Order: sequence, then structure tokens, then C-alpha cells
Amino acid sequence: MHGRRLISAGSIALLTLAASGPLHADGAKLYEANCAVCHQPDGNGSEGIAPPLAEVLAKRAQSAAGREYLAQVVVSGMVGTITSRGIKYNGNMPAANLSDQELAAVMGHVLSTFNKVSQPIPAEFFSAARAKALSPSAVRQLRERVLAEVGE
Ligand code: HEC
Repeated sequence: MHGRRLISAGSIALLTLAASGPLHADGAKLYEANCAVCHQPDGNGSEGIAPPLAEVLAKRAQSAAGREYLAQVVVSGMVGTITSRGIKYNGNMPAANLSDQELAAVMGHVLSTFNKVSQPIPAEFFSAARAKALSPSAVRQLRERVLAEVGE
């Protein structure tokens, strides 16, 4: 009886640890490990490889459709030709293999550090994007609709 209690107390401690870990996810570290290889450490992207994330996302982050788009890009990936800062990219953005909390943290870092947007996109947006599960080419179409609505 006593032993069992000890075990369950231990499991609760482990569960608490697992649940609180991602909440403290470090967006800057996640960016370095998961995004910088393509989008570059300074977020300026690289011609022929990946578009910039710096100074292009503020308008998108301020509209509801734009926040949905930003969540979909990392959850579902994106494929097809896009134009950013007047340059064409035809790459393949892979779906990120991160939890909703980690995605919220890394996108929060991208928005605050590279786009001067202090309001992060909550983890719930990433869960909702996952539930919708758009195809990578549908995400590109969503990007076009959002840009038509809010501008570049
Ligand atoms: C393997 C390279 C690669 C990695 C790794 C990668 N991306 Fe991308 N990303 C791309 C490419 C390529 C595109 C453009 C896709 C296209 O041309 O349709 C893109 C597009 C984007 C866009 C849309 C930009 C716009 O102009 O609308 C965002 C936002 C983004 N990535 C964020 C991230 C984040 C955050 C991470 C890390 C979690 C990440 N990416 C990891 C290659 C990558």
C-alpha cells in the first residue's frame, strides 16, 4: 500500500514534468535547431533555398486568417512557387516535427525577434491547424488568399 503510493507520487511528478516542459520551450533554441538551416540564423532566408521570415510577417500576424496561415505553414508544410520581397522561391517547407507548445514558442520567437510583433500565436492555433490538416499545396493557396487580404 505504502509502496504503491510512492510509485503514484513518482508518476505524478513525472507527468507534471512532462506537461510543464514544453510550456517553457525556448523559441530561440528551437529556431536554431529546426529552422535556421534553411531560413538562416538571421531569418533572412537564402535565395533558391528558403524565403525570409524577417520583416515580412507582421501584417500576416495581425489578421485572423494570417495567424491561421502561419500555424498551417509549420504544421502542414508548404509546396509550390511563392514570391517574397520580389524574389521567387519554389521549395518545399517540411512540416515541423514539434509539439503545439514548441511551435507556439518558435513562431513567437520568429515574430518578436524578426518582425517586431510582440503578441505570440497561442498553442491552440497550432492544435486547430493540426485538426484541419491542409495539404502543403492548399497552404500555399491560403498564403495567396491572406496576402490578397492583408498585403505583403
Ligand atoms: C528544409 C528547409 C526548411 C526548414 C527546415 C524550415 N523551412 Fe520554412 N520554408 C521553407 C521553404 C522552402 C518555404 C517556402 C515554400 C514554398 O516555396 O512554397 C518555407 C516557408 C516558410 C514560411 C512562410 C513564409 C512566407 O513568406 O509566407 C514560414 C512562416 C516558415 N517557413 C517558417 C519556418 C519555421 C518556423 C521553421 C522551423 C520550425 C521552418 N520554417 C523550417 C524551408 C524550410
